[in-house]
Amino acid sequence: MLRTPVPADAAPLTAAVGAAYEHLRHWMVWASPHYSQEDAIQWIEGKIGGRTETGDVPLLIVDTDDQLLGAIGLHAIDRLNDRATLGYWLRPEATGAGVATKATRLLADYALSNRAIHRVEITMSVENEPSRRVAERAGATYEGVAVEYLKHGDRFHDAHRFYFLANQSRH
Ligand SMILES: CC(C)(COP(=O)(O)OP(=O)(O)OC[C@H]1O[C@@H](n2cnc3c(N)ncnc32)[C@H](O)[C@@H]1OP(=O)(O)O)[C@@H](O)C(=O)NCCC(=O)NCCS
Repeated sequence: MLRTPVPADAAPLTAAVGAAYEHLRHWMVWASPHYSQEDAIQWIEGKIGGRTETGDVPLLIVDTDDQLLGAIGLHAIDRLNDRATLGYWLRPEATGAGVATKATRLLADYALSNRAIHRVEITMSVENEPSRRVAERAGATYEGVAVEYLKHGDRFHDAHRFYFLANQSRH
């Protein structure tokens, strides 16, 4: 399930990010060994990575017992062009079961179904194979490689770019 995070999620989220740091650090620019409850609160309030723009949509991925499996969200929401970027991460223990693929389908369907967003993009470093497979399995359309599109640490990575469109069959 996907659900909106609340302030009480800050502590488990901080613990999960801390425990998953080695798994996240190459791909999530905000991941840090010093990730704090304040960082978690900022994300919960829709300020992914501590950025100041508003309107980001943060969601937790939880199991049926409300245990945290990971997170997913929409960011870089461009209201001029009705476009948003979808990102995700899982705790290492939650990988290998299709959770990210299912969560991606759910959020893309939700974002596009009310027509507020026309295009949902997913981009990942060309070196991030697990993430590329999530976009493919979720049914996103492959668009090509965007050169030096993502900054990870002190290096710019070429990125695979995928998209979902409103009115496009996704199943
Ligand atoms: C990217 C990331 C979320 C992918 O996790 P994942 O577990 O591989 O992805 P899914 O949850 O969709 O699971 C897919 C795997 O489960 C398997 N699987 C099992 N049951 C499945 C089902 N019902 N449906 C789909 N896949 C299933 C698939 O075969 C696949 O395994 P494989 O890659 O060995 O073939 C994870 O590696 C991660 O958190 N990485 C760090 C953060 C990151 O890179 N985020 C993306 C930044 S762009």
